[in-house]
Amino acid sequence: MTSQQNWPVAIIGSGNIGTDLMIKILRSDGPLTMAAMVGIDPASDGVARARRMGVPVSVHGVDGLLAMPGFADIKIVFDATSAGGHRANWATLERTGVRMLDLTPAAIGPYCIPVVNLDEHLDAVNLNMVTCGGQATVPIVAAVGQVGLVSYAEIVSAISAKSAGPGTRASIDEFTETTSSALCTVGGAQRARAVVVLNPADPPVLMRNTVHCLVDGDVDHEAVEQSVQAMVDKVAAYVPGYRLKQRLQFERFTTHNPLYIPETGTFTGSRVTALLEVAGAADYLPAYAGNLDIMTSAAKATAERIAVHAGRTAGVAP
Ligand SMILES: NC(=O)c1ccc[n+]([C@@H]2O[C@H](COP(=O)([O-])OP(=O)(O)OC[C@H]3O[C@@H](n4cnc5c(N)ncnc54)[C@H](O)[C@@H]3O)[C@@H](O)[C@H]2O)c1
Repeated sequence: MTSQQNWPVAIIGSGNIGTDLMIKILRSDGPLTMAAMVGIDPASDGVARARRMGVPVSVHGVDGLLAMPGFADIKIVFDATSAGGHRANWATLERTGVRMLDLTPAAIGPYCIPVVNLDEHLDAVNLNMVTCGGQATVPIVAAVGQVGLVSYAEIVSAISAKSAGPGTRASIDEFTETTSSALCTVGGAQRARAVVVLNPADPPVLMRNTVHCLVDGDVDHEAVEQSVQAMVDKVAAYVPGYRLKQRLQFERFTTHNPLYIPETGTFTGSRVTALLEVAGAADYLPAYAGNLDIMTSAAKATAERIAVHAGRTAGVAP
């Protein structure tokens, strides 16, 4: 029998993201319990670690998961394969009624950025966690948008090449499309663009994110700064290594010195620039891989909220 204190979950994809998420769940005293780690590569480090840590393992993909004796008890399946992998896994799992939290940028279900819109999606059967860049930058755009109209947002996420497994590299197109779409639908920007850089530097560098927002008209810079700092504090509550690298930068464009944008013409207002750094907790890869933590911590926090919500709905939670 499951309760709010025992919420069995499975992870498909035993690579960087899946392994980091598994370790976080095993180290946590929250409601989630690891019922299965599912891969396709028997030689993968994630499969070996799962076995060492006492987690039931299948190396036969989603069909192997369906055949596992504990499948009927599993409440949530996290997908950490690739965008293409998730499309295939969902095609198989949808009919079973199990919920999926998608850590790939496949974007089948609605986008979830926990600090911005989780409450709207607690009952979704397939919830998309956007991308590491989206988890890091959409909250900032939403915070700026609480003060003024963001007519354009542009973000650049730089992650160490070492932390980007083949599943990430196979999903780069979906990364840019899903992130820019989430900057609009969740962040509230009218138009957006997203870029990801795989930085080959060795030793590897920490995850960095640059966020530019064009905010129309005469916006209060101090109010923007306060709103963004409050949002950074909320994200840092579940990703402690998330921080502003320096104070926000503002540049004002007036009718005397407008900004000319080829697609839209003359802009007057403020350009707000936020420079963020994300250090990881080094649960799996070293601290430079904050891009793992920002995604796996968001997914774990989301699943924990869903467990509590489902428990309340069923009358078993406090
Ligand atoms: N690495 C990051 O920083 C990061 C951050 C956020 C989101 N993501 C997303 O997470 C996903 C995984 O990225 P990664 O860097 O961990 O890649 P990875 O290549 O390290 O991991 C993917 C794993 O999935 C396994 N796999 C592939 N197809 C499978 C299938 N059908 N069934 C079961 N297992 C399968 C692979 O064997 C591999 O072990 C990608 O979609 C990526 O976009 C990555």
